[in-house]
Amino acid sequence: MGNPHTPQQGSIFEENLAPALSGIEKSAIEVDALVAQLNHHAHRYHVLDAPEVPDAEYDRLFQRLQALEAAHPELIRADSPTRRVGGQPLDGFSPVRHAVPMLSIRTETDTEATGAEAFDARIRRELGLGEADAPVQYVAEPKFDGLAMGLRYEQGVLVQAATRGDGEVGEDVTQNIRTIGQIPLKLLAHPGQPAPPVLEVRGEVYMRRDDFEALNERQRQKIAAGAKGEKTFVNPRNAAAGAVRQLDPAIAAQRPLSFFAYGLGEVSAAAEGGPTWATHWDMLQALRAWGFPVSSLVAVATGAADLVAFHRRLGLQRDALPFDIDGVVYKVNRLDLQRSLGFVTREPRWAVAHKYPAQEQMTTVLAIEVQVGRTGKLTPVAKLAPVFVGGVTVTNATLHNEDEARRKDVRVGDTVVVRRAGDVIPEVVGVVPRSGATAPDGSPWPERGAPYTAPAHCPVCGSDAVREDGEVDTRCTGGLFCGAQRKQAILHFAQRRAVEIEGLGEKLVDQLVDGQVIHSLPDLYRLGFVALASLDRMADKSAQNLVAALDKSKHTTLPRFLFGLGIRHVGETTAKDLAKHFGRLDAIMDATEAQLLAVRDVGPVVAHSVHTFFQQAHNREVVEQLRACGLTWPEGEGTADNASPQVLAGLTVVLTGTLPTLSRDAAKELLEAAGAKVTGSVSKKTSLVVAGAEAGSKLDKARELGIEVLDEAGLLARLQVGAQVP
Ligand code: IVH
Repeated sequence: MGNPHTPQQGSIFEENLAPALSGIEKSAIEVDALVAQLNHHAHRYHVLDAPEVPDAEYDRLFQRLQALEAAHPELIRADSPTRRVGGQPLDGFSPVRHAVPMLSIRTETDTEATGAEAFDARIRRELGLGEADAPVQYVAEPKFDGLAMGLRYEQGVLVQAATRGDGEVGEDVTQNIRTIGQIPLKLLAHPGQPAPPVLEVRGEVYMRRDDFEALNERQRQKIAAGAKGEKTFVNPRNAAAGAVRQLDPAIAAQRPLSFFAYGLGEVSAAAEGGPTWATHWDMLQALRAWGFPVSSLVAVATGAADLVAFHRRLGLQRDALPFDIDGVVYKVNRLDLQRSLGFVTREPRWAVAHKYPAQEQMTTVLAIEVQVGRTGKLTPVAKLAPVFVGGVTVTNATLHNEDEARRKDVRVGDTVVVRRAGDVIPEVVGVVPRSGATAPDGSPWPERGAPYTAPAHCPVCGSDAVREDGEVDTRCTGGLFCGAQRKQAILHFAQRRAVEIEGLGEKLVDQLVDGQVIHSLPDLYRLGFVALASLDRMADKSAQNLVAALDKSKHTTLPRFLFGLGIRHVGETTAKDLAKHFGRLDAIMDATEAQLLAVRDVGPVVAHSVHTFFQQAHNREVVEQLRACGLTWPEGEGTADNASPQVLAGLTVVLTGTLPTLSRDAAKELLEAAGAKVTGSVSKKTSLVVAGAEAGSKLDKARELGIEVLDEAGLLARLQVGAQVP
């Protein structure tokens, strides 16, 4: 500046400032700006769920920062987001002594309302409050089911993350914790509250239920592909604990973890620049402002009545939450009162955990039975000694399929862990190993049954049961001949989302099918009042209502009817798409696979399933009979442009090899519908080759001649987008 040789405008920075700032200084300024921006965007994305920029922009900034750091490793800052990934695998974790011990809290074992009342009564007694004194103010929080973590920030920058360990000494898991996008690497600027020199934030690392399911799905695929040393996790807490204690941070980074802040460890005193909050609530608000996730379920509660209401309300929400909780925690809100209440042995007097019924329990397997589903799927189900889990008494738990049952090696006589979380079907998590010479109650261990094998015949109708190559499920081949499938088919047709026959429930369908009163879906509409009223336990009034409900259900819509037929892979959405595209049921029934493939979102699997369903004479017969019984729905023209777009007009195409989903005939039909001529051998006249697995000499020849080759996905893409063939 002040340079007498100031050149033309526009190059002031380069010509004028450059001599003052070296390259490294400029890079340092840019690194600072990038780190601040990236940390801001990470908070918007991971904590607030409200990103301001597209992912691509984040990636661009991130890559720029990576490049600068690669060029100048001395500029890598402790709060750089690039440190969230990578790092070297460790041999073990170093011990960390907690400056303030990480305590546990007393658990109110009574899961009913009295737990909250007992806690409030104790607090009032300790504080010397009488009847006339005002109610005590609390903060009520979910008790997150994960693992406790202490996050140490010095001058606002994350320097260490430690597990609880024995409460005095934990383990240094900083590398892994850095990979959690929700955890700030640097406290966000907070006008009212500058970052204290030392701040240790405590909270829970956990895994969301959807992340857990997706992780286990990935694990199952790895195992199926033959990966060694991989396993599935029994519940989100176990998966989270495994990820936190993973020695290779690259693997930890692939395990999706989340975090909620709920407290503090060591903090600088007010005189040394520390905070001066009066309440726990204020502290939580400051943590939120600094960028930590604080659960929106946390609430201020006044007196015992509010605590009871909180416990009840969260209990009702529990199954629907995106993460597991095992109870609620009540904390005295005023920090001065917390201090005066202090601690008994190793637990604070000012807080208590109030549990919900556990979602996992142990019980014994009495039998393993096989259930038949609507589509004939045979599911092994463990019959259990009744056990109270997740708020209900459970006597059945699914073993999913043969592979799962064998992998877990669940057998009659075993002690197992049963889990019921959310409104999902209870499942057997695993077998508890037998230890000791006798069972815990002193009786001899019961004999173990044989390992589970899928039956060769349907247990209900005796038809062959088959497991196709590459499928996990064994299916009954009996179709609607099978009583179990018939019952399920009727219930599916009658459900609210299908034609809706009000009052037709499981018990009644059992009675009708088992008593041979009806044999098929159409029979249902042939039942009159007299037949219904003569059923056991059927009052005249109920019979009348059912007749009315049957009549009402006759006026339906095409999507509901179609969905109600229970065609494999045809859910409500697909049924709507099909109805919209074709307009009329007959058009759907007569559609070729290629025509079905022209429907929006319909792929080869669905097209094949719909086509096969309507190729079966007995299914067409059911449809005709239902129509004859008076079922009607409005029909229209459909939105399909009946002539498929002739995107391959004039081309000569050769098919070779096995395509992953399309049969040879379906592929041929599809190509021809798009205007192509399909021939058997590759020559100079060939315009395109569609190749699948084990394509041999034809593919080689095509390559030799420089002919374009597509795989199935490429073909489908071309047909659907109608791209021009060069
Ligand atoms: S406060 C001194 N609040 O429950 C009080 N703990 O035994 C320290 N937990 O290991 C704990 N949610 O991991 C607190 N909202 C919450 C919590 C919570 C889950 C866990 C924590 C601790 C155990 C308490």
